This record gives sequence, C-alpha cells and structure tokens, in this order.
Amino acid sequence: MAKHTVVTMPGDGIGNQVLPEAVRLLKAAEFDAEYVHADIGWDCWCRKGNALPARTVELLAKHKLGLFGAITSKPKKEADGELRPELRGKGYSYFSPIVSLRQRFNLDTCIRPCISFPGNPLNFIRRKPSGGVEEPSVDVVVFRQNTEGLYAGVEWTNPPDQVRSALATHAKFKPFVDIPGPDLAISVRIITRKAAHKICQAAFEWARKYGYKSVTICEKPNVLRETSGMMEDAAKAVSKEFPQIALRSTNIDAQTMWLTKDPENYGVVVASNLFGDVISDAFAGLVGGLGFAASANIGDDVAIFEPTHGSAPKYAELDPPIVNPIAMFLSAVMMLEHVGEIERACRIRTAIAAVVMEGKIRTYDMMRIAGGATAISQGAVSTIQMTDAVLEKLGSQPSTPVQPEFAAIAR
Ligand code: NAI
Ligand code: MG
Repeated sequence: MAKHTVVTMPGDGIGNQVLPEAVRLLKAAEFDAEYVHADIGWDCWCRKGNALPARTVELLAKHKLGLFGAITSKPKKEADGELRPELRGKGYSYFSPIVSLRQRFNLDTCIRPCISFPGNPLNFIRRKPSGGVEEPSVDVVVFRQNTEGLYAGVEWTNPPDQVRSALATHAKFKPFVDIPGPDLAISVRIITRKAAHKICQAAFEWARKYGYKSVTICEKPNVLRETSGMMEDAAKAVSKEFPQIALRSTNIDAQTMWLTKDPENYGVVVASNLFGDVISDAFAGLVGGLGFAASANIGDDVAIFEPTHGSAPKYAELDPPIVNPIAMFLSAVMMLEHVGEIERACRIRTAIAAVVMEGKIRTYDMMRIAGGATAISQGAVSTIQMTDAVLEKLGSQPSTPVQPEFAAIAR
C-alpha cells in the first residue's frame, strides 16, 4: 500500500491540462502515493446542480490530501442559465466549490509563496536612480485567512426584513434605510478573534521557521475599524511571543501601490480573506504571475494544494496545451513539504529552478507573447514539453540535494 493517497481534482479548463502533468512529475520523483480522481466544477453544476459532489467531499475526508487544478465560476444569471433545464427554478444556487471546500474542511490557513526564480524573464525589475535597472529578489510568503471575511458567503440582494431591521439599529445605515430591497446588495465581513489569532500565529511561526525578519499585517484598520482592527489586534498580541521578528503594519491600498518600490524588504505578509487574495496576486505579479503562483489551503485535518490561476477557458481546448504548469508543480511541491517530504520537494524545486535559469524552455507567458494557437510556432513550448524539461533536470540531479529547506533556491 502506498504511504499517501492524493485526491486529484483537475476541475475545469486548464486544470485538466496542468494537474495530470503534476502527477507525472510526482510519479517521476517517486513520491510514494496513490491518486484517486474526484469530480468538481462547472460540469457538475450544470448536470447536477452542485459543483461539489458528495463523493469528492467523502474522498477528501478520508484521505486528507488534495491536489486541485482550477474551476470555472460564472455570475449568477449565467450559472442559472446553464443549469440542466429540468433543474431550473428548483432552488439550486451556484456557490464556488473551492470556497465550499475551504469552509467545509475549515481550511482556514492559505499560504501563497511569491518567491522569484533567478533567470525568470518575468521577474520584476526596477529603474535605478543612477540609470539602468536592477532586479530585486522577491521572497514573500502571504498568509491569507481563508474562511471568513467578505468570502464567508453571508450576503443578500434584497435582504430579509429582519436583516434590514437589525441594520437600521446602526446609525451609519441611515442613508440606506429607504433603498428598495431589490436595489440593495449586502455582503457581510465577518472576522472572529479565534481565526484572526490563528492566521497571525501561523504567519509568525512560518517566519521563525524559515528565518524571515518581519511579518507585515496588511489591513485597513483606520477605516474598517472593527474587522481590520481585530486582525491588527491579533497580530500585535501574537507578535509578543516572537520578539525576534518585527511586526509591520500596512494598509491594503498603500501596500498595493508601494509593493513595487521595495518588494525585497517584505517577508511574511498576513491578511484577512479578500485582502490576502488581492495582495498575494499583487506580489505574485512580481515573480512571474499566474504561471508561477502556487498556494496551500491548510486545515487541522485536511489540506488542499492548488495553483492560484483559474481555468483559463480560452486556452482550455488547445492541442497541444500551451499553459505554464509550473504554478501547479509548485503547488505539488508545497504538498510534499506539508507531508514532510522535504528532500523530494527540494529536488523538484531545484529542477524547476534549473529549467527557468537555463532559459531555453519557456511557455508562452515566459516569452511575453500572446497565448493561443500560434504560440508554439513562435517558439513557446507546450505544457507537456515544459514538464519533460523539468523531468530531465530531475533525472540528472545528484540524489542528495544541496539545499534541503523550503525556498532555499531563492534565498
Ligand atoms: P484565469 O486565471 O483562469 O486566467 C487569466 C489569464 O491568465 C488567462 O487567460 C491566461 O492568459 C493567464 N493564465 C492563467 N493561468 C495560466 C498558466 N498556467 N499559464 C499561462 N498563463 C496563464 O482567470 P480568469 O480568466 O479571470 O478566469 C477564468 C475562470 O477561472 C473564471 O470562471 C474564474 O471564475 C475561474 N477562476 C478560478 C479560480 C480557481 O479555480 N481557484 C481562480 C481564478 C479564477
Ligand atoms: Mg485570487
């Protein structure tokens, strides 16, 4: 029997192109695992009115480890329109299955490393005051609270009377009291002290484990006094246990504006759900963008690893596929690290770093050309060729890697 069972959920679109390549890589690295396929995504919604089948939930509850590709989500009207005719009008309502998974298994800690690979042509560069450019090495890990905040799903258009009455007790609701229900949409930002504390604790522990000098809490407590205020309070309280790590505080808007100024000066960044989503994408843009952005969704019991990108429907039908599988590979590497396979994880990361550094094999995004059917004829490699190149580097490595720690390549 294999040591691990990984529930593989390719989902929609390019999820079906990149996830099988990650499994190919894990097998080549001789990860001791079995793989069980599970359905998820748009097709499940259209056919059954549920994007997250019960079997998928059961498999994850049983095996605790998931690898996820991407799903397609569409706005409410389109979702309702694509539902099988006999299911329409029966009260089915689309909800993102990855958000459901995060809530169902309380995957409250989302980790998104944004670490530049030397030689990546997509790395951020900066103009020097003295002329010329420089390429700061970015080494940021974003901790995003994954289950609460504005993504908790507590929202209405045309809120029920009880909700309106409750809101009317707040002085600041006065300008909205007479807005007709159908013209009023409300999403609730919920932060609990327990979850705020937990994500901050995880961020500081990561900083200590991997030698980061600072943790930055990125919120907006001057305006969102209650919710961001609670996040900031939690960060301050937790920071007392880590006197060797500096606590910094930035506002989400300013942080987004300034992150290109001195990205090398940030280490671990922690934020609530929406702000963490925003800021991790922003930092990911400095280290290669969606083709390089990996993430982990970690709960007490279950963990699911996924690239940050979506299903990129416009490229989903291309044969050969052209999208960059590295974000998916780095997600698989995070899975290996999570189960303690540090050396194997490092070997794969080293192989990816070597391909990027060499610069001969590049998917279309790494060449900064438009995607589409002509990408290959312009010199881009296919998804499969990128995997082959990483496999080749993996095969040519000495069996004992030189740097066994997470992020050792870039640091
Ligand atoms: P997307 O991430 O799917 O694609 C945006 C663009 O980024 C693509 O058109 C492509 O140019 C580029 N891109 C994405 N992944 C790439 C890769 N691996 N290699 C090279 N280039 C890549 O975002 P979009 O177009 O906004 O959304 C498409 C669908 O995906 C929507 O239905 C959306 O709801 C869903 N989505 C799902 C996510 C998830 O599964 N966690 C996350 C983001 C979007
Ligand atoms: Mg996002």
